[in-house]
Amino acid sequence: MTAAAQRITIRVQRRAGPDAAAEWQNFLVERDEAITVADALDVINREPRTVQGESVPPIAWASGCTFPTCGGCAMRIGGRALLACKTRLDAVADRRGVVTLEPLAKFPLRRDLWVDLGRMRSDFERMRAVVDAVPNAATIVLRSALGRCTSCAICLDACPEVRAGAAFVGPAAIAAAYDANLVEPSSERIAMLMLKGGIDDCGQAQNCLAACPEGVPLDEALAGSFRDATRAFLRRLWPRRVTR
Ligand code: SF4
Ligand code: FES
Repeated sequence: MTAAAQRITIRVQRRAGPDAAAEWQNFLVERDEAITVADALDVINREPRTVQGESVPPIAWASGCTFPTCGGCAMRIGGRALLACKTRLDAVADRRGVVTLEPLAKFPLRRDLWVDLGRMRSDFERMRAVVDAVPNAATIVLRSALGRCTSCAICLDACPEVRAGAAFVGPAAIAAAYDANLVEPSSERIAMLMLKGGIDDCGQAQNCLAACPEGVPLDEALAGSFRDATRAFLRRLWPRRVTR
């Protein structure tokens, strides 16, 4: 292996703030099949120096847990939204040994690879998706799968319906609302699902299901929410004929 092949070039999109111009900087790290993209960012940030030898400010990115539970380290790695702490660096290097890092594209930028995921919390609140209830035996398996969601926002980044100016609340909040309805069915929550930005805005591309790093059964949650909303709609038309 040549010296160049023993190293990976990390190409990072840098922006000093939301309104700053983007620039690209390259950094070198030793190729090591055991390290993740998050590890590589930590190594670079110990003494951030570009390939040209220029000393630069540390790369801003969100790291909450170093284990895939907080969802904070979601970023675009080689063009795909992935969790930095769960992605092996070696596995995502291209044939030239380059790994490109960019922030998630659909969220307000704070700096470099760090974006504001605040809409996740407000989306969950909008869907009345936060409940404090004990799962029953019939739903425990499904609820445990839905509960793997870390609010990383990768499903929103992958969804073609989540875009500037669109009202769609996104798959994670709908899955959380569905989860909440499993333990504590609420007509108010189902009414929220039926408003603009709710389940009707899902285009069923299923990109979210493929993108979710935790394997949350978003297809089941979206289909279940669609059933809940349809039943509620029919109940409005024929209150005596349609029961839950
Ligand atoms: S459903 Fe999956 S991709 Fe979406 S926020 Fe939760 S963990 Fe992330
Ligand atoms: S740092 Fe928490 S999920 Fe990656």
